[in-house]
Amino acid sequence: MATLVIVGSQWGDEAKGKIVDVLGSEAEVVVRYSGGNNAGHTVITGGKTFKFQLLPAGILHEGTISILGGGMAVCPKGLLEELERTRALQPELGDLRISPAAHVVFPYHRALDALEEKARGDDKIGTTSRGIGPCYTDKVQRTGIRMGDFVNPDKFRDKLATVVAFKNKLMTLLGGEPMDFESLHAEYSAYADQIRPMVQETDHVVQEAVANGARVLFEGAQGTFLDLDHGTYPYVTSSHPTAGGACLGTGVGPRSIDNVLGVCKAYSTRVGSGPFPTELHDETGEQIRQQGNEFGTVTGRPRRCGWLDLVALKHSSRINSMSGLVLTRLDVMANVGPIQVATGYEVDGQVIGHVPSTPEEWESAKPVFETLAGWDEDITGAQSWDDLPKNVQDYVRFVEHATSTPAAILSIGPDRKQTIVLRPDLIWG
Ligand code: GDP
Ligand code: IMO
Ligand code: MG
Repeated sequence: MATLVIVGSQWGDEAKGKIVDVLGSEAEVVVRYSGGNNAGHTVITGGKTFKFQLLPAGILHEGTISILGGGMAVCPKGLLEELERTRALQPELGDLRISPAAHVVFPYHRALDALEEKARGDDKIGTTSRGIGPCYTDKVQRTGIRMGDFVNPDKFRDKLATVVAFKNKLMTLLGGEPMDFESLHAEYSAYADQIRPMVQETDHVVQEAVANGARVLFEGAQGTFLDLDHGTYPYVTSSHPTAGGACLGTGVGPRSIDNVLGVCKAYSTRVGSGPFPTELHDETGEQIRQQGNEFGTVTGRPRRCGWLDLVALKHSSRINSMSGLVLTRLDVMANVGPIQVATGYEVDGQVIGHVPSTPEEWESAKPVFETLAGWDEDITGAQSWDDLPKNVQDYVRFVEHATSTPAAILSIGPDRKQTIVLRPDLIWG
């Protein structure tokens, strides 16, 4: 077994970046398969903090091939700035390749993201305002500009001229300002010149690596309940963060995926609007936000915090065919008192044990909680399962049982070293 998907099992920010970094050193290819710079993946190592938005967190490992897959929406300006920022911290990086099928995010996408959010008023999604939704809208509408077009000067000029004329009408209609085609073209042609050498065939690279038995790690962004199809629609992102997206976004089929690890916080958070049954609006929620420093990596917004939702997590395990769980941020739950976990929902006076099929029901669902003993110990220095207090062990066992998914890895702090591997067999086999 040699292929592994790392997927966010909640609403994003589960610490996927840290886990991809830890396991990326063992992979030959690390490939991002969805989303764009709406993601913010933090890696803390050797006293340095990296905040990746587009680059696969595996890029820190020299000798690794890092790929931005065809399922992504890539902002060229953001990518070049991120490369510069990252090289300032670590000059030697892995080899980066970009799929010609990845869609390009332009300034009009960002402008439209803001204008559309404004038009939604109280129903706003709370997007990261990175233009991701409007870029994927163009993809679905079949008018998007892909990386392959972008780095072909003639094609790029023709396509951009058509699209800008259309977007200017749209932006004016929504109360925005039109954009000047020539200056936009000049600025983005300069980015295309820098990016051109990186745009190469990538599906074949991933397929060959899989065929040769090399270790390939598929890095998820966002989280399962932000998935366009499986999330709390319409409060979702516009791509497929779920494990299935790894196939769509990189050019391999389902039988090429060996293992799937679902990264999950010991509690829940969400940024932006939408259903969140176990959300806490009290002092405990505030305590978790402060102890966990739960403020967005990309936008700095305070994250909404709540108890772990095992109804949602079980659903997530099934959607993603999880082999195992990676339970992160267990250290943050110290000193919060008894811990609650949702094991059912009350919907229309009936208790159910699964996620409701409509967003309205999910919005109105009242969680049914079970209370578990908490812990006051600082666990950030634990080296093994045996070092963990019994209440932490019981918490982990409860989650495994309720979701029928074994815990493969525990994370007890942001550093690479603060990681306890329980089931190596569930990682690379
Ligand atoms: P991602 O989007 O899933 O990669 O997650 P983010 O990077 O947005 O947010 C996770 C945050 O948790 C980052 O600031 C990490 O440095 C931090 N982190 C990762 N694992 C742990 C952990 O086990 N404990 C604590 N306290 N922080 C962690
Ligand atoms: P990582 O990879 C948390 C959320 C936004 C908003 C919704 C739609 O760091 O886990 P978008 O800009 O994608 O159109 O916004 O999705 N969102 C995230 N929340 N972590 C992320 O990424 C997110 N990416 C998007 O807050 O609610
Ligand atoms: Mg994040």
